Amino acid sequence: MKKTTVVTTILGKKSNKLPDQDVASVFAPTNIALCKYWGKRDSELNLPVTSSFSLSLGKKGTKTELKVSDTAYDVILLNNKEVDSSSEFYKRLAAFLDLFPVHRAMRFYVNTQSNIPTAAGLASSASGFAAIVMALNQLFCWGLSYQKLSILARLGSGSACRSIWQGFVEWHAGTQNNGMDSYGEPFPHTWPELCMGLCIVSTKEKYISSREAMKRTIETSPFFAEWPNKVNMDLPILKQAIINKDFHLFGKVSESNAMSMHATMLSAWPPIHYAVPETILIMKKVWELRQQGLPLYFTQDAGPNLKLLFLEKDKEQIQQYFTSIEILQPFLE
Ligand code: DP6
Repeated sequence: MKKTTVVTTILGKKSNKLPDQDVASVFAPTNIALCKYWGKRDSELNLPVTSSFSLSLGKKGTKTELKVSDTAYDVILLNNKEVDSSSEFYKRLAAFLDLFPVHRAMRFYVNTQSNIPTAAGLASSASGFAAIVMALNQLFCWGLSYQKLSILARLGSGSACRSIWQGFVEWHAGTQNNGMDSYGEPFPHTWPELCMGLCIVSTKEKYISSREAMKRTIETSPFFAEWPNKVNMDLPILKQAIINKDFHLFGKVSESNAMSMHATMLSAWPPIHYAVPETILIMKKVWELRQQGLPLYFTQDAGPNLKLLFLEKDKEQIQQYFTSIEILQPFLE
């Protein structure tokens, strides 16, 4: 099924309404998966092989301003600087806007402000696509439910369907071919003491996109067949650990899930390895500190940066061990 069919199904008669307001301004948080999305059953609609589960990062994310432009082309700004129409960023966003029938009749001015490094495994595209969908919904007063916005955001980037909400979010894989049952849903539990420490070791663009890496993993990794079993095992334990505020179990499942995802990539051909030497050094430091009794875990996405997981009571100690860490407390932001 085509993306445009999904968009038309969701928008119905709403699609051609002219803007009721001059400008929309929205914010969407970035999200970090604790139980990862890795592998698609449909790469056109970004339908995943498994469900996944994430934590949104409060004030870290994308603010998008959207209005109709009287230019012949879309004017797209990234952090207040106009983006060249030949760039990947421009092409990907313009192609996404093209899915919406309103784009046939008008061009847009889009100002995307992100406070996270683009494409460094910190899910800037997730918050970006969630924000643009929310901005369209606001500008045209579509009044779509969060669930429908989540489906639309998924068409831009799979993980974007979780960035519609703050807090913990589960993305249900769904089984339907049109993906109408594949969307995010907030997991209604908070954990104010939970901290995530961003260890940025590189802000360079990733050497292979997660999209390409997922595809290669599915096609060539002998271990990918085991991945859905791992997720099906981890996801319920992770949710129960949150309900019980069992930090050790929460950390263990998150770290083990990330390591297993990377193991499927290491066994792909050609192998995919996102770590740089500093990544490995930090992992070893985490393992060493944990052995000494510090409740500290990590997760890693499609990039070399690590996100440390710990509780508020250990914040100062962690700051001393990892001097350049940026500590977030997602439920207090
Ligand atoms: C490792 O959502 O960026 O961060 O659907 O192709 O746009 P596309 O992929 P994307 O992949 C995210 C992969 C991940 C894990 C996760 O966020 O669940």
